[in-house]
Amino acid sequence: MTDLIFPGLTDIVMPMKEPLCHINEIADPGAKGFELAHNDKTLAFFVVKKHGQIFGYLNKCPHVGINLEWRPDDFLNIDKSLIQCSVHGAEFIIETGHCIGGPCRGKMLDSVKLVLDAQGNVFLDDNQPF
Ligand code: FES
Repeated sequence: MTDLIFPGLTDIVMPMKEPLCHINEIADPGAKGFELAHNDKTLAFFVVKKHGQIFGYLNKCPHVGINLEWRPDDFLNIDKSLIQCSVHGAEFIIETGHCIGGPCRGKMLDSVKLVLDAQGNVFLDDNQPF
């Protein structure tokens, strides 16, 4: 893998050669948050697992732009059917990041592309959509 470049954020360049985690480290359904720091820049994002599939999003609520979780790795609602922002309760579809309830209804979480290798290791993709 090569360095990751996130020009849409703050020109973050991440040397990303190690896996984020193993897929079995995330409950199903469940989520895990990550913060990668490099050259005093930080990229905050989270990975959600549902039915064996993984989905990645920036940890940035489209309502106010702050982190979504109220405690580490707690990104889902009570029945774990939706991503939920802890601040004002916006709810997002796990598979798409589309907001279906709350103050930012109709907006989207920013996707983070992931790679799952044959051994179950989760990586950030080299080519991000932002
Ligand atoms: S900050 Fe997320 S719903 Fe308001």
